[in-house]
Amino acid sequence: MDIVPLGPGFAAELRGVTLADIAADDAAYAAARAAFEQHSVLVFRGQTVTDEGQLAFSRRFGPPEVTKVGSLGTGTHFITLTTIGPDGKVVPPDHRFALRNRANQLWHTDSSFKSLPALTSVLSARIVPPHGGETEFVSTRLAFERIDAGLRRKLENSFAWHDYAHSRGQIAEGLASPEERAALAPQCWRMVWKNPVNGRSALYLASHAYAVEGMEPAEGKTLIDELMAAATAPGASYAHAWQAGDVVMWDNRATMHRGRPWPAHEARLMVRTTISATAADGLEGMRPPSQQAAE
Ligand code: OGA
Ligand code: MN
Repeated sequence: MDIVPLGPGFAAELRGVTLADIAADDAAYAAARAAFEQHSVLVFRGQTVTDEGQLAFSRRFGPPEVTKVGSLGTGTHFITLTTIGPDGKVVPPDHRFALRNRANQLWHTDSSFKSLPALTSVLSARIVPPHGGETEFVSTRLAFERIDAGLRRKLENSFAWHDYAHSRGQIAEGLASPEERAALAPQCWRMVWKNPVNGRSALYLASHAYAVEGMEPAEGKTLIDELMAAATAPGASYAHAWQAGDVVMWDNRATMHRGRPWPAHEARLMVRTTISATAADGLEGMRPPSQQAAE
C-alpha cells in the first residue's frame, strides 16, 4: 500500500489496495485505519464499487448509521445523493433533490446534528458530471493548530449547538420538513474534538452550528462564523475532482467539506455510507458535562 499526499497538510490517496482488501484483511485494515487517523481524508481511485462492498468496507471502521427520515435511502445503511428523478431524468433546479445538493454546498461535517455524530463518511461516485461537482475538504485539525493558545483553551471548554433545520434554512425556508425537525432535536457538542489515537485536537464546527452555550446568540454566531472563515481560508482546502469508481472517506471529527456546483442539467449520483463515532473515537469527551453526568 502506498500513501500519496494530496492536500495542504492533510488528505492522501491510498494506492495498491482495494476496498475489498481492507474489508477482508486485518493487516490491510490496520494500515488504512492508521492512514485515516493521520491524513483525515483518504482517496481510493478505480474501485469496482457495489453497495454491499462499500458497506462491508465501511463496517470495518465502526457501526453504520441508519439513514434518517426524509433522505433517499431512509431506513437503510445507504444515502443516495442524486439529481436523477424517479423517471430517470435530471430533476429541475428547484426540485428537493437539487436543493439538498445545494445544502451540501455549505461547509459542514456530517451528522453533527444527530444524537450520535459520525466518525467517518464513505462516498462513492457512481455517475459524475464531466465538469464541476467536486467535493472540497479542509482540515479543522490544522485550523485549530493555527489559532492562538488563549482562544484554543477557551474553545476546548466551549460547546456549540447544532441543528439540521438551521443549515437547511439557509437554502430554502422549510427545506427541513416537519417530520425531519421532529426526528432531529438540536444537539450540543464540545467545539474541539480530541483524537484519542494521536492526541491531536480539531475544531468541531459545521453549517449546522448556530449558537454557543453561555454566549449571547449574536456573539456566539459571530464566533462560529469567524472560526468557519478561518478554517476555510483560501489555500487550506483539497478539492476532489471525481471520476466514476472513486471512493473518498473523511474523518468528520477533523474536517469539514462541501460539494461544489455543476451544470444543473447534468446527472450526478453518489452513494454514501456513514459510520457512527464510539467511545474509542473520543465521543465521550464531546458531550457537555451536564449530559455526561446524566448518562
Ligand atoms: C456528503 C456531501 C457533497 C458532495 O456526501 O456528505 O456533503 O459533493 N457530499 O456530494
Ligand atoms: Mn456531507
